[in-house]
Amino acid sequence: MDHYAVLGQPVAHSRSPRIHSLFAAQSGAQLSYEAIEVAQDQLAEKLAALHAAGYAGFNLTLPHKTAAVALCESRSERAERAGAVNTLIRTATGWRGDNTDGAGLVRDLRHNLGAAIAGKRVLVLGSGGATRGILAPLLAEQPAELVVSGRNPWKPEELALAFKAVGPIRPATHYALKGDRYDLVINATSIGHQGGVPRLPPELFAPGALAYDLNYGKAAEPFLQWAAAQGAAKRADGLGMLVEQAAESFLLWRGLRPETAAVLAELRQP
Ligand SMILES: NC(=O)c1ccc[n+]([C@@H]2O[C@H](COP(=O)([O-])OP(=O)(O)OC[C@H]3O[C@@H](n4cnc5c(N)ncnc54)[C@H](OP(=O)(O)O)[C@@H]3O)[C@@H](O)[C@H]2O)c1
Repeated sequence: MDHYAVLGQPVAHSRSPRIHSLFAAQSGAQLSYEAIEVAQDQLAEKLAALHAAGYAGFNLTLPHKTAAVALCESRSERAERAGAVNTLIRTATGWRGDNTDGAGLVRDLRHNLGAAIAGKRVLVLGSGGATRGILAPLLAEQPAELVVSGRNPWKPEELALAFKAVGPIRPATHYALKGDRYDLVINATSIGHQGGVPRLPPELFAPGALAYDLNYGKAAEPFLQWAAAQGAAKRADGLGMLVEQAAESFLLWRGLRPETAAVLAELRQP
């Protein structure tokens, strides 16, 4: 039996063990997947111990995605670009790092929601770790324009510079969005966990626009309610992204892409 886990702190709330047990049941794979609480300063030690114990792979969640980059003996190009890893794959002597967040988002948008990105005006709110992971996969879809907006100007500016070789990103403060219209607005801020919404100008949504929140559950409600009040034609939370990034991890570990639609439907059951 192969052993996998999600490492984070806090991690007890994670839906990853449920998702991966549903993937395993689908394929008849014999595997275990746990949630393991690991403090920030214990990650290096824990990864070495879990390697010695024979673990085959991990997902990483807050606060480990950035710190783990330096602990990997190799990294995929997309993980290098993002400066963050959410998936570790066992090697003979350590761990290879990858980042499946962006692929998960794009797959949820295109396959589950039928939302085109090519030729569309796309706005990403927030400039933290999740934004770093989704920018290159979004650029690869060739939007008409990609804007990254923050409450302060410097982090979006840093990101525009860091991704310059991948494609054009226009940095903007939330205030500077006044008068703009977007086809796709992606909330990649964490403010929903405090019940809030970024301070944004009105009328950001073009006709037919999709408002997408990376958050799900209670944390997605404030932004999606605000978007509905602002006239966003379509709205979606990040549960589909969570399932799709997990499917990408499963593929990396086991060479098999699980069927996600049934798993997503099951997770959405009340
Ligand atoms: N569905 C999924 O699979 C998935 C995957 C990854 C992440 N997520 C979710 O996505 C969210 C972002 O994750 P992350 O890793 O990027 O977190 P992070 O690195 O902590 O970044 C959080 C971002 O939110 C911004 N922010 C916080 N409070 C704000 C406020 N009051 N007004 C405007 N902006 C504010 C921060 O702005 P500053 O830069 O100015 O500090 C920062 O850019 C989290 O809630 C996470 O749970 C979901």
